[in-house]
Amino acid sequence: MPTLFDPFELKGLQLKNRVMMSPMCQYQANTDGTVTDWHYVHYGSRAVGGVGFVMVEASGVENRGRISSRDVGIFSDDHIAGLKRIVDFCHAYGAKIGIQLAHAGRKSEVTDEPNVAPSAIAFSEKYRVPKELTVQEIEEIVEAFGRAARRAVQAGFDTVEIHGAHGYLINEFLSPIANQRVDEYGGTPAKWMRFAMEVIHRVKEEIPSDMPLLMRVSAVEYSEEGYSLDEMAEMSKQFKEAGVDMIDVSSGGSIPVAPPQFPGYQLAFAEKIRKEAGIPVITVGRMECPQLAEEAIRHGRADLVAIARGLLKDPYWAKTAALALGVEMEMPGVYKLGY
Ligand SMILES: Cc1cc2nc3c(=O)[nH]c(=O)nc-3n(C[C@H](O)[C@H](O)[C@H](O)COP(=O)(O)O)c2cc1C
Repeated sequence: MPTLFDPFELKGLQLKNRVMMSPMCQYQANTDGTVTDWHYVHYGSRAVGGVGFVMVEASGVENRGRISSRDVGIFSDDHIAGLKRIVDFCHAYGAKIGIQLAHAGRKSEVTDEPNVAPSAIAFSEKYRVPKELTVQEIEEIVEAFGRAARRAVQAGFDTVEIHGAHGYLINEFLSPIANQRVDEYGGTPAKWMRFAMEVIHRVKEEIPSDMPLLMRVSAVEYSEEGYSLDEMAEMSKQFKEAGVDMIDVSSGGSIPVAPPQFPGYQLAFAEKIRKEAGIPVITVGRMECPQLAEEAIRHGRADLVAIARGLLKDPYWAKTAALALGVEMEMPGVYKLGY
């Protein structure tokens, strides 16, 4: 029976424990998308604090694919050097590190470019009406995901996570709420999935064969008009067949209503996808009670536990959890004197 602080291996990715830092936009990038010292300290301190796996925030594969103009970009070779500095630091402290490849679609608020989506439907009245993508433009975005994956490999990342959740572009294509196309990208479940599948295939062309590919999904959309958990479990099975190695199970974001949040509020979704799609999963969502995180791993409900807000509050959450669970975990350097 594995525990939270046991190692985890997936293809060539070897983690010292099963604690992941969940991707979190910092809104601290330069407007050209390059990272700043904020990111270096932010990610570096969680690596020092003992998380086995750091996931860099949603990073735009296009400028107009960033949520805001202070988000990280991976749409230019100029972005590689700053990211590599973060990767090297995290590696020096024993953490593995991935980057989330993202396109914000109709939820982009980058002000100098129009936003785009499968259909010209605004997310809410507070958002701009997006431009409906042509088939050629869709193909160009698939290419942009491919080029971004290549840059991630060049920067030394151990893996990449395709952001297919939270009502951003890939999720928009998957969702009957945002996708009302009647061409080859909409109208039937297979057509709703087409864009996601093309992104998966294109990204796989760029990453080494022993590098696992992760995908974040919204398990449910909290709307009768959206897809169901059963449907997402089925989609996850198909993502697996297309080459995704692990699903990061989140929820919501397709409608402007926040999901109910309580400890482990997405754990049952992760458990179902793990079982029905037969794929390793990451669970996330108010998992910072160490005993709850431990339970999720011990009982095979999830393979990794991702922590977001808990790591904003306590960069050394992994050490805090280890202490609570009675697990030995040495802090680096003189930090060990603090315990
Ligand atoms: C400040 C902040 C920024 C976030 N940015 C991202 C992001 O870039 N990509 C993503 O998939 N989720 C993002 N999330 C969602 C988290 O990764 C996580 O799924 C969510 O906060 C639930 O986990 P928690 O209860 O541990 O905070 C963000 C959350 C926060 C609080």
